Amino acid sequence: LTTLRFAKRFENLSGSAVREILKLTQQKDIISFGGGMPSADSFPVDELAKLAADTFADHGEQMLQYGTSEGYQPLREWIAGWLKAKGWNVTVDNILIISGSQQGLDLTSKAFLDPGDQVVIESPSYLSAFQIFNSYQASYLAVPSDDQGMKMDELEKVLVNNNPKLIYSIPTFQNPTGITMTLERRKQLIELANKYDVIIIEDDPYGYLRYSGEPVPSLKALDTEGRVIYLGSFSKIVAPGLRVGFAVADPAILGKMVIGKQATDVHTSNLSQQIVYRYCSQGMLEPHIEKICAMYKAKRDAMLAAMDRHFPKEVTWTRPEGGLFIWCTLPEGLVSAELLKEAVAKKVAFIPGAPFYLGGQGQNMMRLNFSNAEMDLIDEGIKRIGEVLTDAVKNI
Ligand SMILES: Cc1ncc(COP(=O)(O)O)c(C=O)c1O
Repeated sequence: LTTLRFAKRFENLSGSAVREILKLTQQKDIISFGGGMPSADSFPVDELAKLAADTFADHGEQMLQYGTSEGYQPLREWIAGWLKAKGWNVTVDNILIISGSQQGLDLTSKAFLDPGDQVVIESPSYLSAFQIFNSYQASYLAVPSDDQGMKMDELEKVLVNNNPKLIYSIPTFQNPTGITMTLERRKQLIELANKYDVIIIEDDPYGYLRYSGEPVPSLKALDTEGRVIYLGSFSKIVAPGLRVGFAVADPAILGKMVIGKQATDVHTSNLSQQIVYRYCSQGMLEPHIEKICAMYKAKRDAMLAAMDRHFPKEVTWTRPEGGLFIWCTLPEGLVSAELLKEAVAKKVAFIPGAPFYLGGQGQNMMRLNFSNAEMDLIDEGIKRIGEVLTDAVKNI
């Protein structure tokens, strides 16, 4: 084939840069802090196997038939009740089951974005979201963040001068920084979105994984005009391979997303939805979240302590209260992508920061994942990265 006439929407899209880097890190014996995966040890394999068998035994034929695009009704009802108990003003009509929050990003983009439409992103942000917005030919307005999340004065400057349709935020235990937006900023964000008539996508796959500090209300819980589309996911609190997540939004918005979902995959796997429903309704979710929070807290603490021990004082990093990631800032002039090569030679890996930005920044940043690291290798891995950093700092 010499001329493949692909659609324009893919013109500026390459495979994820991080996926290429991750290939490097899959070599034998490497200690990888690279990916963003939950720990396989956290998966409740035996419980889920039993629930799958129960599903086949009790509802085999119904489960194997087509289902509704909105999702399995008992699961939608369970989620609505769970969120109501947290103080959210929702009913089952506000819940759409999606095949992971990744699909929620795709369906919201499909519902709202025409080519050239503007999307506000916090900078840095989740790079797979960029790929989705790119595939709808969006244009970007990047708003910088600090240790309190997206900067609201900068956001307002952007909103005064432009007309974006969407603001994309990961306000809690952000990917890649681990930072949580403060309550004050959250309230300002809702006010600004109301004032400038913009829809907010609140992407929250990590919010349930809190290891310290006080919970902060979600943007959706603060939403006064129904303009927040909340994306939740069972990926990080049960298992990502099930591909079950949920969108919480105004029924008028969900209606459009349902039409998009009909075209995309008709509905989320019935078997996965049944398993998740049974897991949740039989009271297993909350104790499981507690268990994985204890596991990840120990790993986070071990990684932070190892960084305190082994990293040179010129390097700084976030101390996240939850989630999966720590974000490091190296002195200006150091290029983390170059240092990764030296780290891989020492059989340890991280993700360089630049792919999490759109404009070429972040060269001196790096992201470390602690959830999928083996507890007894954290200190050794961080020590080796520390050696690379110490050498690099000396040679600036
Ligand atoms: C910020 C963010 N959004 C969405 C996703 C996709 O998650 P899911 O498995 O629910 O599709 C991820 C996965 O790592 C993520 O980090």
